[in-house]
Amino acid sequence: MSYKVAVVGATGNVGREMLSILAERQFPVSEVVALASTRSTGTDVSFGDAILKVKALDYFDFSGVDICLMSAGSAVSKEWSPKIAAAGAIVIDNSSQWRMDREVPLIVPEVNADVLNSGIKKGIIANPNCSTVQLVVALKPLHDAATIKRVVVSTYQSVSGAGKAAMDELFRQTRAVFVADPIEKDKFTKQIAFNVIPHCDVFLDSGYTKEEWKLLVETQKILDPDIQVVATCVRVPVFIGHSESVTVEFEKPLTAERARAILRAAPGVLVIDKREDGGYITPLEAAGEDATYVSRIRKDPTVENGLSLWIVSDNLRKGAALNAIQIAESLINRKLLKGMR
Ligand SMILES: NC(=O)c1ccc[n+]([C@@H]2O[C@H](COP(=O)([O-])OP(=O)(O)OC[C@H]3O[C@@H](n4cnc5c(N)ncnc54)[C@H](OP(=O)(O)O)[C@@H]3O)[C@@H](O)[C@H]2O)c1
Repeated sequence: MSYKVAVVGATGNVGREMLSILAERQFPVSEVVALASTRSTGTDVSFGDAILKVKALDYFDFSGVDICLMSAGSAVSKEWSPKIAAAGAIVIDNSSQWRMDREVPLIVPEVNADVLNSGIKKGIIANPNCSTVQLVVALKPLHDAATIKRVVVSTYQSVSGAGKAAMDELFRQTRAVFVADPIEKDKFTKQIAFNVIPHCDVFLDSGYTKEEWKLLVETQKILDPDIQVVATCVRVPVFIGHSESVTVEFEKPLTAERARAILRAAPGVLVIDKREDGGYITPLEAAGEDATYVSRIRKDPTVENGLSLWIVSDNLRKGAALNAIQIAESLINRKLLKGMR
């Protein structure tokens, strides 16, 4: 079988990564269509060795499309995902628009792909937020072993998580510092070059940011509604790769040694954990890779059953594009997709 795939947001950080991963994994495509706003009509994007001309979402007819990988933000998804699903495609959406909708599965294949068997009522599947994906990939096997009660997480999130304009801003500001040009701010309200900003997404009345709230509610929806999560999300001057310092409290005892062995056997996880200089992963090394890396596994001596970990992954790949394509592969494996012989 092969499938007609549309990528909406094909000129963006996540969309370009989607095209590259579709080609890399030899996803069974009969045709790939690259879509973006009218601003990008006619521009070129790469799909493996091929070049695709970008078409405008506004004028595209979705009939015949089997899968739509949607990565153009919440407003576009709100308007378009239901229309695209009504035209017969399954939409896998990267925005936060549908994640908490009870009728929309929120999927990380290593963790909860079986939820897909219960039906895709709206024709839409949501991809979680990038910081949630890597967190639940690492936490799921530990939860199965010792039941997680509470998670305290501080994130160190790369600028690519805020889109391509944010990457350009870090680049421009870094250059401006070296050549003593004035610093211009646009995507970030404070200078991001040579700085860290304790603010990702908008502020909520609670005092938390929406990014911090997403880590709580998405982890509960994917893993277990009884898990408590408190988060501090921080933007750092890294181009690609989100890092997380995570402390987990369990109901049952779990030693660092056993956790290390469990994580070594877990799908999607690579453990790099030598207690010596450089014996851990950094975002620079995780960029371009598929795994969720876990380092610095150690006992938290301040609670009865606690562990601390360092979790790093490429936010554009496992945090977005790769996870979406793995969802599409899960649909194929479960025979939940129409296609063409
Ligand atoms: N970056 C991450 O780590 C990450 C992780 C998880 C989820 N996400 C989510 O994925 C989505 C895309 O993120 P990104 O980082 O790829 O952003 P981006 O680099 O800013 O790209 C945005 C894409 O959306 C397109 N777009 C914007 N308005 C449009 C419209 N009216 N009609 C059609 N296309 C439109 C843009 O096309 P033009 O080039 O024509 O403007 C571009 O292709 C967002 O919802 C984001 O929250 C991102």
